[in-house]
Formats: sequence, structure tokens, C-alpha cells
Amino acid sequence: MLKLFKKWLNPTRRPANATAGDIELDKVPAHVAIIMDGNGRWAKQRGLPRVAGHHSGMKNVKKITMAANDIGVKVLTMYAFSTENWKRPKEEVEFLMKLPQEFFPLEIEELIQNNVRIRMTGWKDGLPDYTLKAIEGAIERTKDNTGLILNFALNYGGRKEIIAGVQDMMKDLQNGNLNPDELNESLFSSYMLTSDLPDPDLLIRTSGELRLSNFLLWQLAYSELWFTDAYWPEFTEDLFMQAIAEYQRRARRYGGI
Ligand code: FPP
Repeated sequence: MLKLFKKWLNPTRRPANATAGDIELDKVPAHVAIIMDGNGRWAKQRGLPRVAGHHSGMKNVKKITMAANDIGVKVLTMYAFSTENWKRPKEEVEFLMKLPQEFFPLEIEELIQNNVRIRMTGWKDGLPDYTLKAIEGAIERTKDNTGLILNFALNYGGRKEIIAGVQDMMKDLQNGNLNPDELNESLFSSYMLTSDLPDPDLLIRTSGELRLSNFLLWQLAYSELWFTDAYWPEFTEDLFMQAIAEYQRRARRYGGI
């Protein structure tokens, strides 16, 4: 089988100490999902307030997006705010909600130059107007782009998504638009918020925590999982490529042999 090899990253962006090696360009995961964890601990370690960690984490989003784009990833889903994150102190929630209005004006031009399309997975209800305005503006400005989809999971929770999907199914059932005998995995997927996206091939979680935290529960059923101890603000392109290289060494069997 033909294998395309290329040093893992655009040479202008590849750090001198890169270790990940070659990436096979015909085996790049189409959809990578990332749980960007450890911002608070990163800040604490440096004697900084937790929000400084979130700010630094925000700065890392474009860098990893560009690395993913360089090797041909089609969809990058970033867990930016969960339905459970509302339980955090008011000041921290407010800070997180203000990040999109800082991030997009700063990064949108380069994202557009690289043909990146922004989208969001989550509930708009409950988000402050300024957050919605920032993200909707970016979605609108990039809607005709055809490159990598940078998908922010914002005010997202996997169980809420499944319950909302089941409610929609029950309505369709009542209206006579759904026959229970026809329900299968692909029809179920069509009721999820990500119905237009492929399921993630690879899930990356930073900060050494080994759990899903209510992220894409239905969609991650057959994803490869990759964990690193690095906190999100210190997660590098090289670590990203290490995750991709490891993914390429794995045999995905989907329950077969
Ligand atoms: C988890 O770390 C991280 C978050 C809840 C927020 C992640 C968001 C970003 C990195 C910025 C997203 C950017 C945009 C533009 C929306 P944590 O606070 O749980 O860390 P800890 O476990 O060390 O406390």
C-alpha cells in the first residue's frame, strides 16, 4: 500500500528538538477531539491565579489548530466549557466566557488565511450575549471556508446531548415520523449535535487525568484514547504529533479481530 511520508510539520513551525518523527499522511485521523485539561494546575504551579492558566491555554489553541491543519486533520473538536463548568466560581466562569471575544479578533485573520472553518457544538442558551456574538461572528466569517473545521465544544455535555436527542426521537415517534424498528446507530447519530461530523478517531486528554468528563459520550465509542501528563498550556505541537504517530501504530479493530 502506498504510504506518504513527510516530516511531521511545516518546517517553519517545527521546533528544533522535535521527536515525533514522520507522520503517514494517508493515515491521519479525520477527527481529533481534545480535552484541554490542567490550566488551573499549570497556573498554581507558577503561583498565578487559575484564570492565567485559562488565558495561556487559549493561546495554545491556534498553535495546535495549525499543527492539525498542516497534516490534514479535517475536524478538531476542543472541549472549551462543559455544562458542569457553570459550577465554578463566578469570576472564573466570567473569565472563560470572555475568552472568545479575545481569541477571535486576535486569531481570526490567520485562521481565515489557512481556510479554517469555525463551528460550535453545545447549547447557546445560557451563554452571555458577548460570548455568543464573538463565536457567531467567527462562524459567519468562516462559513465558506473548506479546510479544517475548528469545533468548539462550548456549554456542552454528553449526557444532556443524549437526553435531548432521545427527546427529539420521542417527538418524532409521536408525530409518526419515526418507526422504532428503524432505529439503528446511524439514525441515533443523526439526533446528536454532531450529526454532520464523523466520530472522533482520536481523543487526546492533557494533565494526566484519565476520564471522559461527559465529553462526546456517544461519539467516542470506538475512538483511540491518548493521554499525556502535560498541562494544556504546555501541550506542544510535538506532543500532538506524538499522539498522531501513536494513533498510526494502533490497530483499530472495532470489536473484530
Ligand atoms: C480545564 O482545565 C479547562 C477548561 C475548563 C477551559 C478550557 C478552555 C480553554 C483552554 C480556552 C478555550 C478558548 C476559547 C477561544 C473558547 P481546568 O481548569 O479544569 O484545570 P485544572 O484541572 O488544573 O483545575
